Amino acid sequence: MVRLSKLLNVDDFRRAARRALPAPMFHYIDGGADDEWTLSENTDAFARYPLAPEYLKDLREVSMRTKVLGSDLAAPVILSPTGMNRLFHHEKELAVARAAARHGLMYSLSTLGTSSMEEVADACTGPKMFQLYIHKDRGLTLEFVERAKAAGYDALCLTVDMAAAGNRERDLRTGFVMPPKLTASSLSSFVAHPKWLFNLLRNRDFSLANVAHRQDALAAGPMGVIAYVNSQFDNSVTWDDAAKIIEAWGGPFAIKGILNARDAVRAKEAGASAIMISNHGGRQLDGAVAPIDCVAPMREAVGAGMELIVDGGVRRGNHIVKALARGANAVAFGRPYLYALAAAGEAGVNRMLGLMLAELERSMVLSGAGKVSEIGAHLLAK
Ligand code: FNR
Ligand code: LAC
Repeated sequence: MVRLSKLLNVDDFRRAARRALPAPMFHYIDGGADDEWTLSENTDAFARYPLAPEYLKDLREVSMRTKVLGSDLAAPVILSPTGMNRLFHHEKELAVARAAARHGLMYSLSTLGTSSMEEVADACTGPKMFQLYIHKDRGLTLEFVERAKAAGYDALCLTVDMAAAGNRERDLRTGFVMPPKLTASSLSSFVAHPKWLFNLLRNRDFSLANVAHRQDALAAGPMGVIAYVNSQFDNSVTWDDAAKIIEAWGGPFAIKGILNARDAVRAKEAGASAIMISNHGGRQLDGAVAPIDCVAPMREAVGAGMELIVDGGVRRGNHIVKALARGANAVAFGRPYLYALAAAGEAGVNRMLGLMLAELERSMVLSGAGKVSEIGAHLLAK
């Protein structure tokens, strides 16, 4: 049994997730592409931007509130979209969405979620975004836009960094497939995690809830993520297509996966209101630049009006202060809440988000910023 009070930071949750999950599931969350250079660089790069705090300000009232993608948030934090949460805990996406709402943060649901857009909308009383992957069946995309409107989503994002699946060698080694499959090589790992296995066998509710009604690629049997992406995703999508989807939606819209300042300008021209600066958590192009390194050149290229969200590598509250000091409007993270979900379901995500927000508040106070708008380049040492 996990003692939540003993878990004090994201790294503690990572270790707890490793204990809770069979190896294929843990490494699917934890791993990256090729040599995983980008994966570690995403967090390491924050060390290049040391803070230089300013003191003796009246900090009795501290507020982390901000507005991003048209929504009022309790802090500049978005929960990034992640697929197939049922693999990690039977409370799946619904638990994460409820925990995000409880903390006043924006939740993002992936196209590849194991909960439907409508179920999540019912569970999540707070701000929410739906993330689009464009399948070869283009009709699905238009259906998503309509369903997102009907279900009351506040924003959409389009992920653009998956023209092919990244080379995740950990998944190949562990034999990771969806739905989970007991094989000779993974059996011992499943048996060593009886609680996870019990919940899987009790309720075999694994389904790609948003796509299966039109395109049940898994009907023929379990499949690896790399095979799914390469067979189902449409890699002929262009900026013209993006512009049409943005127009059809007509509300706050983020392009997710931008690293190049020229693409940031294209996103602005296509009508997007925000950019999620992201390399997909180091899961796609290894060797790609860390998001925190892109903020300043991108801000220079797109100007003040466009929202920039740093997605990837955020593990501490001080990372959020650094991202904002570099010129971002908010951050997003995926693995931190997935580790927490795997470790202890909704209660785990609640604790993890609470710790992250407490870290952010403390880092703001210790930096001399009482409000999000008071975080700026003046707080960086160089
Ligand atoms: C992801 N990510 C992702 N992104 C996306 O647009 N759609 C998706 O379905 C998924 N699925 C997914 C699954 C898992 C297990 C992980 C770890 C990540 C990427 C995610 O949105 C985000 O970009 C990264 O997680 C950010 O990096 P950190 O915060 O995990 O370091
Ligand atoms: C991943 C896909 C699902 O990163 O986005 O695994």
